[in-house]
Amino acid sequence: MKVGNKHYQSIWLDESDPSIVRVIDQQKLPFSFETKELRSVDDVFSAIDEMTVRGAPLIGATAAFGIYLATLEISSLTDIQDHLSNAARYLISCRPTAVNLTWAVNYVLEKLKNGSSSGQLSETALEAVLEICEKEKENCRQIGKHGLELIESISRNKKGEQVNILTHCNAGWLACIDYGTATAPIYLAHEKGIPVHVWVDETRPRNQGSKLTAWELGQNGIRHTLITDNTGGYLMQQKMVDIVIVGSDRTTRNGDVANKIGTYLKALAANDNNIPFYAALPSTSIDFGISDGLKEIEIEKRDPEEVTNITGYADGKIQSVRICPENTLAANYGFDITPSRLITGLITEKGICRATEEDIKKMFSDKFS
Ligand code: MRU
Repeated sequence: MKVGNKHYQSIWLDESDPSIVRVIDQQKLPFSFETKELRSVDDVFSAIDEMTVRGAPLIGATAAFGIYLATLEISSLTDIQDHLSNAARYLISCRPTAVNLTWAVNYVLEKLKNGSSSGQLSETALEAVLEICEKEKENCRQIGKHGLELIESISRNKKGEQVNILTHCNAGWLACIDYGTATAPIYLAHEKGIPVHVWVDETRPRNQGSKLTAWELGQNGIRHTLITDNTGGYLMQQKMVDIVIVGSDRTTRNGDVANKIGTYLKALAANDNNIPFYAALPSTSIDFGISDGLKEIEIEKRDPEEVTNITGYADGKIQSVRICPENTLAANYGFDITPSRLITGLITEKGICRATEEDIKKMFSDKFS
């Protein structure tokens, strides 16, 4: 998507040096637009762990680039299979909830199974990584097209009046490779001249909404309003929200959705006010092997300091300030589970379906054994 007048993806291979992977440093946004170089498996691990890159599809693509960088670390003395499986295990251990991480690493490893020379391995690995990036871009383009139909139908029902969409966290192009998931239909609607407005949940504790979603929408001229995470329910009661569209880190084969902490509460409020609640996701974010989100999805617990402090911009620099008494105990769960019964539908690259095993199976029959 556009940054100023230049088109950017969230991750790319350095044009002049194929041993460098470049990413947009999302820890610096929206206060400064900087890119970061990743040159090793360790760089990739840190970038995912510290959330320089985040969002399920981008976490997957970045880890896939990590395997590629691991092939560049192979010397004549290296036990290749050992080296690659150690790198894979290390990267997969980084963050537990987004299924794309494991999916993407295994996708590249599968392609490398028959490789022999390090040169050949690197070539094959890079090919596989670029395939993942193209696949995810196409997935998001298609999600945009299918999701657009929902916005168009609301716009028709409202006789062309503004469509108010609420979103939580950042499921935009910064969280993917391009276009985004929850944001893709919004960008397309805007392009088509349909008046849209987005309620942007700030999304404590790391504020992906206020920092990243607001920035993305602003860069692309889309009307939006920042709200606290507790405001959405009231806006729904006041009929100021027409539809909720969020992303997903891991969706089960029967439609339970793991997404940023707070998503479940939005689904409850939407349900109580008869407001359509959609999760937009590529099939790479569906874990076809599990069917009970509450029991089978591991919820990441992160540093409590992300809760006791907040990071922002003041006196010309990005800084963290404490927002509670010293030594206050804090708990920091990164995601929650929205049960399928609260979800109106899933917007996927293959179309929109109900959050049921029956419908997901119909749409992705090749993934069901
Ligand atoms: O902790 P984050 O920022 O990685 O969490 C991101 C989300 O919850 C997104 O909504 C999800 O990954 C979907 S991104 C298309």
